[in-house]
Amino acid sequence: MISKQTIDKIFSTIRVEEIVGEYVQLKRAGSNYKGLSPFHDEKSPSFVVSPSKQIWKDFSTGKGGTAISFLMEIENFTYPEALRHAAKKYGIEIEEDQREFSEEAKNAQSERDLLYKIHEVANDYFQHFLWEVEEGKNIGLAYFKERELKDDIIKKFQLGYAPEKKNAFTEYASEKGYAKEILEKSGLSIFPENAPAGIDRFRERVIFPIHSFSGRVLGFGGRILRNNVKTAKYLNSPETEIYHKSNVLYGLNQSKQAISRKNVCLLVEGYMDVISLHMSGIENVVASSGTSLTTEQIKLIKRLTENVTILFDGDNAGIKASFRSIDMLLAEGMNIRVLLFPEGDDPDSFARKHPQEYVEKFIENEAMDFIDFKAEILLKDAGNDPIKKAEAIRNIVKSVGFVQNALKKEVYLKEVSNKFGLSEQSLFNELDIQKQITQNQHQHVQQQKEHAPVKMEIVPLDNEKGDPFLYDVLFMESKLVDHMLMFGDIVLKREDEKNGEYQITVIEEILHHFEEEQYIFLLKGNETIINQVKEGIQKDELRSGNFFISFMDEEITSKVVDALLPVDELENWGSRNIYPPNYGDNIAEQIKGDVLLHKYRYIDYLIQETASELSKYSTTDETKYFELIKKITLLKQASMKLSDIIEYSPIKGIYGDRKR
Ligand code: UTP
Ligand code: MN
Repeated sequence: MISKQTIDKIFSTIRVEEIVGEYVQLKRAGSNYKGLSPFHDEKSPSFVVSPSKQIWKDFSTGKGGTAISFLMEIENFTYPEALRHAAKKYGIEIEEDQREFSEEAKNAQSERDLLYKIHEVANDYFQHFLWEVEEGKNIGLAYFKERELKDDIIKKFQLGYAPEKKNAFTEYASEKGYAKEILEKSGLSIFPENAPAGIDRFRERVIFPIHSFSGRVLGFGGRILRNNVKTAKYLNSPETEIYHKSNVLYGLNQSKQAISRKNVCLLVEGYMDVISLHMSGIENVVASSGTSLTTEQIKLIKRLTENVTILFDGDNAGIKASFRSIDMLLAEGMNIRVLLFPEGDDPDSFARKHPQEYVEKFIENEAMDFIDFKAEILLKDAGNDPIKKAEAIRNIVKSVGFVQNALKKEVYLKEVSNKFGLSEQSLFNELDIQKQITQNQHQHVQQQKEHAPVKMEIVPLDNEKGDPFLYDVLFMESKLVDHMLMFGDIVLKREDEKNGEYQITVIEEILHHFEEEQYIFLLKGNETIINQVKEGIQKDELRSGNFFISFMDEEITSKVVDALLPVDELENWGSRNIYPPNYGDNIAEQIKGDVLLHKYRYIDYLIQETASELSKYSTTDETKYFELIKKITLLKQASMKLSDIIEYSPIKGIYGDRKR
């Protein structure tokens, strides 16, 4: 876990305009910067960065937050991944919070750090050899050139070369101070009995580093340079503490943005397929690296998109083995299409033969849904044999059984029914039988499914449909919380009969109001913020906007950003039907008015609630009934009194009359 101090240091060091500036071309606009949204295709800029507030807001999608949340959005990082990325950029050393770790866990952590480090060292070493050393240039680089790879793509994938000399890297790393133990654990060196000083795992091969989702080097694949050598074509790092094959997809780090933007992931088999497609401009592609797909890998893709297109070589012998991958993808709720390349081609050769547009069109037009794909493969085998044909259909229905969404499942069954001229009922029956057979497997998958996170409750903004009383209170509730975030530490001068003249902060005044009304918050997010503010008061700190900006809750952060960066920071808001809040010049009056209005609407809401409760007791419980009548009467009196005050206060001018 990253320590609190480090997190604070990261937040106080990083500059949102610098981090965002790496992805978005920003232009000065007054005290802010503006640019085109990276999340949305647009012609006029609706993306604003505020250097003074250290936040950004994308008015086209409604997203907004800090530099860290920007990294989370654009790179699809988790919170710690984003922090680590930012820390690296600014050279901030990460201090791990080790309090809760045992001695053993601490050692494991530092060992993992060492493994990451040595992979970085090796990665630099192999690249250095490829670009700078004669042997590497003559053999490694020449090989890549022969395969038509351009310099920029070789650099993008950090391809390298491991020299012929048996212990070149082991010697180099040992001199740098890496112990035998860590060299062995990394899988980069081997220590056989006849060579106790150690030899390199990768020798005389071109090197493909394998990156994690966030870009750390976890391992390597090394390809031999001549196809006739009697050894495995690709040699890969073994499983280590940091490299778990089943959790990694080759190319994911380089492709994640395109996958998320295009909302589809192309799945290929080999390193070279990923690289060639990138070179021809198709960047939403990952490779399973010759192994069969795992649930963990599917989950990695699912962070970015639910759509997968599997690309197969034309002469692939393992197509039927891929049926399992299809079922797993379906079970994880993915939508699948499958594409067979022409015989003799794999994605690599195909992408090098044809221009980008042609390849894109080909994938778009030729990819089949999994039903057509399986039908084509299985029926080809079945020929006219009715038993085999029935078996093929059963096989396809089995896949449909993995589809989790009931609606989708039915659509697929309809498709099968049309395709084979069978009744839907008979297919449903078949599905039932299948279900019993696959139940165990099925349950297993179900258990692995994560529960969807509970989202902040959203009340419809449409007055006609929603409860208008509820909506009105809610609107004011949020407004008051916004005030606390924006003006929390401003000191107001007040005067009343009881206290005479006195001073009070905006936070205290609004908090006091909520407590006096024993107000129950309607939005969870608001409640969280208020609880944090209260906790702050006990600790003698004023928790206002800046405090919440680095708060770990995404939903809270975006609410705070909304409050701190109102829409009028955007020039052309009018054309988007976005209207800026009408802030009076006088914050003191504004707050006073909003507190009153909230109270007024809250009372109205309570009257409604009590009235509907009343109808339940009219015939059953007379005491309760009259109790409620009395409550309504009191509430109505309070409401009238308030309406008089509001009538004569300047706030009426601000809000006008709300008609129901
Ligand atoms: P391929 O044999 O299709 O390799 O194996 P490729 O990607 O087309 O490679 P080139 O074009 O001959 O250079 C697909 C993937 O299977 C893994 C690798 O990840 C490879 O990219 N593989 C293959 C191995 O791990 N070891 C092997 O010996 C062969
Ligand atoms: Mn190939």
